[in-house]
This record gives sequence, C-alpha cells and structure tokens, in this order.
Amino acid sequence: MSKKRTILAIESSCDDTSVAVVKGGKILSNLISSQYFHKKYSGIVPELASRAHIQVISRLTADAMTECSVGFDEVDAIAVTSQPGLIGSLIVGSNFAKGLAVKYNLPIVPVNHIEGHIFSGCLQEPKVEFPIITLVVSGGHTALFRVDSYNKYKILGLTRDDAAGEAFDKIAALLGLGYPGGPVIDKLAKQGNPKAYDFPRSMIHDPGFDFSFSGLKTSVRYFLNREFPDGTPEEKIPDICASVQAAIVDVLVAKTIKAANKLRIKSVTIAGGVSANSQLRSQMKKEAAKRKIRTIAPDMGFCMDNAAMIGFIAEKKFGEEIESFRDLTFVVNPASMRAERKKKKRN
Ligand code: KG4
Ligand code: ZN
Repeated sequence: MSKKRTILAIESSCDDTSVAVVKGGKILSNLISSQYFHKKYSGIVPELASRAHIQVISRLTADAMTECSVGFDEVDAIAVTSQPGLIGSLIVGSNFAKGLAVKYNLPIVPVNHIEGHIFSGCLQEPKVEFPIITLVVSGGHTALFRVDSYNKYKILGLTRDDAAGEAFDKIAALLGLGYPGGPVIDKLAKQGNPKAYDFPRSMIHDPGFDFSFSGLKTSVRYFLNREFPDGTPEEKIPDICASVQAAIVDVLVAKTIKAANKLRIKSVTIAGGVSANSQLRSQMKKEAAKRKIRTIAPDMGFCMDNAAMIGFIAEKKFGEEIESFRDLTFVVNPASMRAERKKKKRN
C-alpha cells in the first residue's frame, strides 16, 4: 500500500481564501475565508480580492494546521492553485506557497482549480467508481467532463459565453437582488412558480454538449423592460426567480443526463458554486434516478471554492511522484478553459 501523504493545500483563485490539510485522501481541516465586502460593488473587484487574500492567508494557514494539530515537520508537500482564476489572487496564493516551500524545504505541486472541482464529489465518497460524468458549474466556469480516473478526463462541452453562475449573478443584478445572485435566486424561487414565465433554454436540443447562457440574461432584460418599464413589482420577483432558475437548471440537467446516456455512464457528479443550488441538486437526482444513474452532489462546504479539493487531487494524481515537484519557477495562468480552447483552435 502506498504511503499516506500529508498535504498542505492553498486556494486563492478568486474571492475565497482557503487552506486545508489532507492526509491519505482524508480532509483533516479545510478553512475558508470569504470576501463578503464585494457585495457592495455588485461583483468581484480583482485588486481588492488580492489584497484581502494577503491579509488573511498567513493566519488561515496557521489556524488550519492548529485545528488538526499538524506541524510543518509532518507535511510532505504543498499544493497550490496555479490556474485558472484572477491573476492577482493566484499570485498571492502561489507566492505564499512558494515561500513556505523554500522555508521548510518542501515539494510544491501547482494544481488546476477546475481539476479540483471535478473531483470534489470524491471528497466525501472515497469509493467513487469511474467513469463519471461531471458537471462543473460556478461563477466563472460551466463545463461537462467524462472522467475515467484521477489522471484522465476529457472535456465534453464548455459554455460558449457566460457561465451558469454568471447568469444567476447578472440576472439577480437586473432584479436588484445584489451579489452573489445564485443563493438569493435559489431562496426566492422556493416561493415562486417555475412555469410563470417561459425563458429560453439555449442549446438544450443541440446535439453537442456546449452551453450558452448569455441569451437568457438578454431575454430577461428585454422581458423586464417590456413588462415592467417602471421597475419590477416586488410580488413578481419570486415567479421570475423560479422561472429563471428552471431555465438554467433544465439545460444543466438535460445536458448532463444526455452525456451519461450517450456514453453509457452510470454516475454523475456536480461541482462548483452553482452545485449548491437546491433545484439543481434535486432535479439532477430525480432525472438520474429515473435512468438508474447515481448522482453525487458534494457537501455544501465542498461546492464552493475550497483548498481541500486542491490537496485531494494533488495527492491522488501525483501520489508517489510528489517528492519530485521542486520547481519554484512555475508561473500562474489566469486563462479560462474557454480561452485555452480558443487558443488551441487558433494554433
Ligand atoms: O465556485 P464558486 O464559489 O466560485 C467560482 O469559481 O466562481 O461559485 C460562485 C458562483 C456564483 O456565481 C454564485 O452566484 C453561485 O456560485 N452560487 C449559486 C448558489 N450558491 C452559489 N448559484 C445558484 N444557486 C445557489 N444556491
Ligand atoms: Zn471555483
């Protein structure tokens, strides 16, 4: 049996600073410090995000290690998110991690944030059986994967424009509901009728697995201007939220189930901030169960950005090789998967 390694993991790709200690696939601690102050700007201000990471990262690391009583003498390697994300935020986490690697003479593993999300369903389900269809849905990403092992996965589809979380956030802003929009739309939708308004389900019948959510946002904007030129009446908001949520969730569920059916795969997982959505969780489970497909939805703490998923995949993916990760010159890469795909197509 391979040796159980203790990994100190650091995640700071966006507006959550997180530090975790993972040993042999088990999460010993996973602390998250969220930057709620962005609410007042109706979106993330990158420069303020990186400054806030600087303020908390050292304390959070000490707290995460104290919580599980692990000292640096017991740490075998450091894992840190190196891509994709906000460049300033990524630089803070990676430079902090590099500093620790030098001070304590430890290997350092750069980790792709999306790979962290892909396997976040496995954090609480150690006996996951591959292959799996994984839907990663967050504020910055919407992507569908076929996952065959911790080392092998394939992108089936990506959003061509906005991410699903971005659609929740932008539509919430149109309704004056503040930022982030997903949790508040989720809450208000519970009091509304999802069939009240018929918003578009873009690309739902498209044979491929790509997504598109910018048309939905435009359609809601035109609808609000046309129906409520003097402002949206408060009593209409729950119905609008429920109808918007239904449009987003219908597409996410239909594409995921279609992929599982087409590839004859019997497990699906959802991950990323939007996987906290109550309708997405219940509708995915229901539609999957009808076809005898198993659904894994991560615990809420693993849906949002967290370092546990970064440490977990570093250990699973690189296991024995981890000691050889001694390159302190790696650079962070902010480019999204969509930008990377475009670049590949151009070359
Ligand atoms: O994964 P995450 O914490 O950060 C990114 O990498 O983007 O995801 C944040 C996104 C935001 O767009 C937020 O509105 C959305 O996740 N979100 C939700 C819910 N909770 C968070 N969307 C829908 N329903 C929710 N309950
Ligand atoms: Zn994320």
